[in-house]
Amino acid sequence: MTTLVTGGAGYIGSITTRLLRSTGRSVVVLDSLENGHAAAVGDTPLVVGNVANTDLVTQICRDNDIDEVVHFAAYKAVGESMENPGKYFDNNVTGSQKLIDAITACGVTRFVFSSTAAIYGTPDSVPVSEASAVRCESVYAETKLMIEHLLHWYGQTRNLRSVSLRYFNAAGASSDSTLGEDWRFSQNLMPHVMKAVLGASPALNVFGDDYPTPDGTGVRDYIHVEDLAASHVAALDYLSNGGQTLVCNVGTGHGTSVLEILQATERITGKPVPHVIQPRRAGDPSECYATTMLAAEKLGFVATRSLDDIISSAYAWHVAHPTGHSAN
Ligand code: WQD
Repeated sequence: MTTLVTGGAGYIGSITTRLLRSTGRSVVVLDSLENGHAAAVGDTPLVVGNVANTDLVTQICRDNDIDEVVHFAAYKAVGESMENPGKYFDNNVTGSQKLIDAITACGVTRFVFSSTAAIYGTPDSVPVSEASAVRCESVYAETKLMIEHLLHWYGQTRNLRSVSLRYFNAAGASSDSTLGEDWRFSQNLMPHVMKAVLGASPALNVFGDDYPTPDGTGVRDYIHVEDLAASHVAALDYLSNGGQTLVCNVGTGHGTSVLEILQATERITGKPVPHVIQPRRAGDPSECYATTMLAAEKLGFVATRSLDDIISSAYAWHVAHPTGHSAN
C-alpha cells in the first residue's frame, strides 16, 4: 500500500507523513517546496513538483502503485487570498481539480482532504457542528469549500470516496522538536506568541479585548498538530474499511481565549509574553470551537493532547529553531 501525500514538506503534511510511515505505510511526497522544506520530509521519497501537473501525477501513481491520497498542498494565507484571489482559485481549486482528475484516472478511490473551519465564517452558535451553515468570509475559505464540492462530484462520477477534514486551529510541534510551523509564513496566534516570548518580536498584538467572551478576547479550538495528524490516519483507515464520503470537523471541542493562551505560555515557559491590545482584526468571529461527535463516531478519532502539550511543544520547537524554521 502506497500513499501519496501532497504538501508533505509543510507543517501539518510533514508530521502526518511521519505518522503514516510509522503505521507501516509506504509514502511518496509531492511538494513544490514553495513554502515547504525538503528537510522536513526526511528519507521519505520526495517528488518536487506541482499537483496541477497531470503528467507528473500520473507518473507518480503508475510508478508507485498509489492506492490513496492525502492532499495538503495549498496556499493558506487568508489576507493574501483577498488581495490576490486568482492565485488562490488557480492553485487551490484548479490545482486540486487536476490532481483529483489525474488520480481517479489512475484508479485511486480513497482521498483525504485538508479542509478548514474557516468555511463556517462567523458561526451563529457554538460549538459548530458539520450541519452548521457554511458562510465563507474569505477567498481562502471559499477555495476549500469548492474543493469539498469537487470531491462530492468526483464521488458521484468516478467512485472516489473522500474524507474532508475541517481543521480547527492547528498548533504545536512534533514531540521530538524536529518538525514544526515556520513562523515566517504564518499569521496565526501560536507562532506570534512564540516570537513574542522568545524576543523575536517586540510584542504580540492581541486583536480585540471587547468580544462577548469571558475575558473579552477571541476563543478558538486549538488542536495539537500530532492529534490532527492522527485524524488523517483514522480517515484513511475508515476509507480502507469501506467508509463512504464524509465531511468532518477535527477539533478538541474546547474553546480557549487569547489571554488564556498567554497565561499558559507564561506559566509553561517561565517568561513574560509582551503584548499590546489592538483593535479587532477584520473578519474574526468571537468564538469558534467544534463538535467532535462525528469524528469520534465515524473515524474513532478523539484528540488526546492538552493545551499545555501544544504550548510546550511549540516552545521547544522554536527554541531548537531560533530562525523560526528548519534548515532549508
Ligand atoms: C486565533 C485567535 C485572533 C494572531 C485562521 C484561518 C483558518 C485556519 C487557522 C488555515 C483569534 C487572535 C491571532 C495574532 C491575535 N487556517 N490573534 N494576535 O483566525 O481562528 O483561523 O487560521 O490554514 O482558516 O482563518 O486563527 O491563529 O489567526 O487566530 O490576537 O497575532 O488569535 O484574533 O482570536 P483563526 P489565528
